[in-house]
Amino acid sequence: MKSNKGTGSKINREFHFSENDFNFIRKLVYKVSGIHLSDVKQDMVYSRLARRLRVLKFKRFEEYCQYLDDNHEAEITHAINAITTNLTHFFREEHHFDLLKGTILPDLSRTQPRGKRLRIWSAGCSTGEEPYSIAISMLDALPNHSQWDAKILATDLDSNVIEKCQSGIYDVKRIDPIEDKNARRWFKPLADKPNQVIIDQELKKHITFKQLNLMEHWPINGPFDVIFCRNVIIYFDKPTQQKLFNRFYELLAPGGYLFLGHSEQLGEFQKNFTLLGKTSFKKS
Ligand SMILES: C[S@@+](CC[C@H](N)C(=O)[O-])C[C@H]1O[C@@H](n2cnc3c(N)ncnc32)[C@H](O)[C@@H]1O
Repeated sequence: MKSNKGTGSKINREFHFSENDFNFIRKLVYKVSGIHLSDVKQDMVYSRLARRLRVLKFKRFEEYCQYLDDNHEAEITHAINAITTNLTHFFREEHHFDLLKGTILPDLSRTQPRGKRLRIWSAGCSTGEEPYSIAISMLDALPNHSQWDAKILATDLDSNVIEKCQSGIYDVKRIDPIEDKNARRWFKPLADKPNQVIIDQELKKHITFKQLNLMEHWPINGPFDVIFCRNVIIYFDKPTQQKLFNRFYELLAPGGYLFLGHSEQLGEFQKNFTLLGKTSFKKS
């Protein structure tokens, strides 16, 4: 079924990896996650999955593809987790947090038609830096936050990153982008690991972390006042992006806000939103 032709890469490979193997994997990844892997991603796919072949003691990608094809669900999860790109950091694209803290949350706190209820979704939250940055901004912007029912939902397809979010533990260097006052307030050094810090429970309690595939059914009611889906749709093709925008739109409260990543666009769906600032939109 699979050709023996290699994928033409110049890197010296431990495992045989054919064009057919790559095509099998990219079809599976697309079906499960919506992630579109173009031809230039062959080396990336090889290097991210080679570790799985070592663990399973396979000699060739053909054997690994057969194993995935036999529906070994746990391995499909490992493969998808390995393929996702989880790059993130605290207060990434800071202008979004400035807008959230300086304009959106003060406006909502004055005009919120649903009383003191606030719902924010970080969709594709990776290792948690985004939802924790949202939570820090939210508590800064709502001085009387204890009177609010303010919750953040943080979801990602990758089950490994959700575990990392839940641990709330980060290398101390990662909290550099956080203002000193907030770094001291919300992060405590770990007693036995001086290079690591842990998030304060008072901040964490506002966030619910869940594994969720954006391609599947969402067991979520909404409405959300704000949705962050940043640097996620860049991995999807245009039809998948448009379907997703429609689903976000339905879940947003009237006048709700949507943030995308720096290189992402709403395309023709933008007619349903007002542009507020760079990749920041308000539902019309
Ligand atoms: C580059 S990170 C972005 C993290 C964060 N939003 C930010 O901007 O810093 C992209 C995240 O999208 C997640 N992702 C990719 N496909 C997904 C899907 N189908 N459903 C949910 N999350 C997905 C990946 O697992 C990854 O953690």
